[in-house]
Amino acid sequence: MNYLMRGIGVLATVGTISLLAFSLPSGEAHGDGGDDALPQLTHKNWQQECASCHLAYSPALLPKASWRRVMGGLDQHFGENASLDPVTQADILRFLETHAADSGNSAIGSKVMRRQGVDKAGANEAPLRITETRWFVNKHDEVPRAAWSRKAVGSAANCAACHRQAEQGLFNEHDVRIPK
Ligand code: HEC
Ligand code: HEC
Repeated sequence: MNYLMRGIGVLATVGTISLLAFSLPSGEAHGDGGDDALPQLTHKNWQQECASCHLAYSPALLPKASWRRVMGGLDQHFGENASLDPVTQADILRFLETHAADSGNSAIGSKVMRRQGVDKAGANEAPLRITETRWFVNKHDEVPRAAWSRKAVGSAANCAACHRQAEQGLFNEHDVRIPK
């Protein structure tokens, strides 16, 4: 959450200008569409067990070490008990590791990793949250601070609140709308 807070802190000083700016095509960070496409993946257990409380977060958005932490702590998963039988748990972990950010299997994963390693000071090698990665914070630096806590959003983890095709794994910038 540190980086998210820092990111939106910076935003506060930029103020309303960013509100106007974010819909305009701007530079490298936002206009590089194709590379930011998430790989379309299917895996039975993952889709069955990891999409009941929230959408099935793409494995490409966290490194393997993060997925090992997530899958090793399912009994205390963000205040929920999301425990699985050992066979299913191992199967899902294998899938997540195969497609993790540092698996070399997707361009977006490589971007996530490049960001994670930028600066040793405070870099979290195995964040439990996608929303804590530098990649995420940077991608969302133009989202107004207040938007994250709006009732219709609730939390940054609620991707589908703004990405209207998130359930289909589509995060294209043209399908983004921040709810009022
Ligand atoms: C019983 C409900 C439940 C199940 C089942 C569940 N989760 Fe979660 N998960 C949560 C809650 C609650 C959060 C926190 C959401 C928030 O902060 O708004 C969360 C958050 C996460 C996050 C962090 C999101 C972020 O970037 O902030 C990841 C990663 C995650 N879950 C992965 C998984 C995986 C992988 C599975 C399947 C093995 C799974 N979850 C199954 C309830 C669940
Ligand atoms: C409060 C609204 C909001 C939430 C919640 C949100 N996003 Fe975003 N997201 C945005 C905005 C706004 C952009 C910037 C679009 C642009 O580049 O103009 C963006 C950009 C992105 C991009 C880059 C798209 C591209 O083509 O450049 C990805 C990928 C993405 N978000 C994934 C996620 C994921 C995964 C989650 C949940 C863990 C999430 N977002 C949660 C609003 C949100």
